[in-house]
Amino acid sequence: MVRMVSVLLSLLLLLSPAVPQETQDGRYSLTYIYTGLSKPIEDVPAFQALGLLNDLQFFSYNSRDRKSQPVGLWRQVEGMEDWKQDSQLQKAREDIFMETLNNIMEYYNDSNGSHILQGRFGCEIENNRSSGAFWKYYYDGKDYIEFNKEIPAWVPFDPAAQNTKQKWEAKPVYVQQAKAYLEEGCPETLRKYLKYSKNILDRQDPPSVVVTSYQGPGEKKKLKCLAYDFYPGKIDMHWTRAGEVQEPELQGNVLHDRNGTYQSWVVVAVPPQDTAPYSCHVQHSSLAQPLVVPWEAR
Ligand SMILES: *[C@@H]1O[C@H](CO)[C@@H](O)[C@H](O)[C@H]1NC(C)=O
Ligand SMILES: *[C@@H]1O[C@H](CO)[C@@H](O)[C@H](O)[C@H]1NC(C)=O
Ligand SMILES: *[C@@H]1O[C@H](CO)[C@@H](O)[C@H](O)[C@H]1NC(C)=O
Ligand SMILES: *[C@@H]1O[C@H](CO)[C@@H](O)[C@H](O)[C@H]1NC(C)=O
Repeated sequence: MVRMVSVLLSLLLLLSPAVPQETQDGRYSLTYIYTGLSKPIEDVPAFQALGLLNDLQFFSYNSRDRKSQPVGLWRQVEGMEDWKQDSQLQKAREDIFMETLNNIMEYYNDSNGSHILQGRFGCEIENNRSSGAFWKYYYDGKDYIEFNKEIPAWVPFDPAAQNTKQKWEAKPVYVQQAKAYLEEGCPETLRKYLKYSKNILDRQDPPSVVVTSYQGPGEKKKLKCLAYDFYPGKIDMHWTRAGEVQEPELQGNVLHDRNGTYQSWVVVAVPPQDTAPYSCHVQHSSLAQPLVVPWEAR
């Protein structure tokens, strides 16, 4: 049981947007991620919905509170959505979603098992024109069914998904509605949201940069270059030694959803007695030219 829990939790992480989408001028996306668990795990509610504008989460909903709520920087945005009305919409979607999960488990004669269904759908616009859409479900982390709006039809990837397909295509109008949602409804919502969110998504927050050193017992000295409080997330960072680019020993980045800023770091190891000059170079769209921060050995 404990093992299953950790497997399911790792699936939760797997399907969250680990690689943030790159934001380009005039290009925006709206993404919804739904997660249903047949058995609630620890503090995780049975059903959760979240929405992203580009790489930033703007709302959340779960089966415990049954309330759609703006999150992060969208807490301060007024008038973008009627959250009471959206709560009802999310509740209706929760019911359909959990019913689908139950149907899959029934198909597999495993109504008692621990399973997870995830759905990911949304749309993109570029220069105000619809430029892409997606709608796909995953059962226990594997492809389950996907909507192809060109056919248009649901494409099953799993034996049980044949049943789901039959149900969701029971009337031709269901398929037309799904297509219309992706091609019209979703982009329309995205355009409406952008009126309130462009300033957040188009923001150019330059990085602050600090360099520090540390040394574990019996280890080489490490130099760490940290860039923080920047947006968008795309950044180029590297260390040079006497002007030559160094392979990093470690690098990473995180997004702080609460304030919509990124942190990124890159670490190099310094051989003992090395007296060559080290510098950290940082390039970001908010900067007219790269920042170069020398390491001042003391
Ligand atoms: C579920 O059980 C039914 C009745 O026992 C059986 O016909 C069916 O093949 C089983 N389904 C699966 C996927 O094992
Ligand atoms: C479902 O699980 C419960 C508790 O683990 C158990 O008591 C019950 O017999 C199970 N039912 C089936 C049909 O496997
Ligand atoms: C964007 O497209 C929508 C729908 O096609 C249109 O109503 C709106 O005026 C357009 N906005 C701009 C700024 O072109
Ligand atoms: C954003 O949040 C992170 C994590 O809480 C914090 O370290 C950082 O200073 C914050 N930045 C701003 C600009 O508020």
